[in-house]
Amino acid sequence: MKVTIVGAGNVGASCAEYIAIKGIASEVVLLDIKEGFAEGKALDLYQTATTLGFNTKLVGVTNDYAATANSDVVVITSGVPRKPGMTREELIGINAGIVQTVATNLLEYSPDTKIVVVSNPMDTMTYLALKATGLPKNRVIGMGGALDSSRFKTYLSLALEKPANDIQGMVIGGHGDTTMIPLTRLASYNGVPVSQFLSADQLKKVAADTMVGGATLTKLLGTSAWYAPGASVSYLVASILHDQNRMIPCSVYLEGEYGENDICIGVPCIIGKNGISSIVDVALNADEKAQFSKSVAAVRTMNEALSDIL
Ligand code: 2OP
Repeated sequence: MKVTIVGAGNVGASCAEYIAIKGIASEVVLLDIKEGFAEGKALDLYQTATTLGFNTKLVGVTNDYAATANSDVVVITSGVPRKPGMTREELIGINAGIVQTVATNLLEYSPDTKIVVVSNPMDTMTYLALKATGLPKNRVIGMGGALDSSRFKTYLSLALEKPANDIQGMVIGGHGDTTMIPLTRLASYNGVPVSQFLSADQLKKVAADTMVGGATLTKLLGTSAWYAPGASVSYLVASILHDQNRMIPCSVYLEGEYGENDICIGVPCIIGKNGISSIVDVALNADEKAQFSKSVAAVRTMNEALSDIL
């Protein structure tokens, strides 16, 4: 099973590393436009195979799409990362051109592949990738909800002072500081509602910290995060390649689900060998529905910036 990752920067390289270490794919191709960069990252990673005990082959190439041929999954991380103080939305103009070109090039060599979109603003880039390629909706998946949910569970685990793997929780809506919706009402500590252990104020803080989870790291690191984004992508890729049918919130094209049409936004999806096999219809309460509508409106506004391209 072959995975191509476009963009050998921090997120792309972390993603390659997790896929290799966990033996998720037999081959990972890292592609970058910077001469020799992906080759260097792939070779460095490959030299950890014997010490870490993995068998995934790692190949790095400079803009050579022929090397990506017959990939089962392609991951698009390319684009300009967020600088401190910069919103994901500000990246739109620069990244739209990049994502469109990359998606078209990838499909030329892997016409049956599934596309995982990481580039920001992620919901808009997922919509762009879908429209620009004309692929069916199950094959174009935005990864934001997987990442935001992992941050949500981390903040819940910190507030509860309990292990993160005992926590269940999902974030839906847009992958933006003001558009994501941590579903605190449905979050649980091994099946017990977290509201039984945390006060309304504590839950509010968990939700607020989750929403600015990416921005907090950008401020601390001086650039966007990579460990959690890379790990979230590898988790999503594993569910596709191994047909795990995990329920993962992803940005997906809606056609009536959640009462919305013609938009890619985060909702819980079952992820298997065909990409998105179904969308899970969660019964939202009135407040969550209102938050979802607000989030949809914000993503739609951002999508308007694509009118020159699409
Ligand atoms: C983040 O939230 C990179 O968008 C990504 O960290």
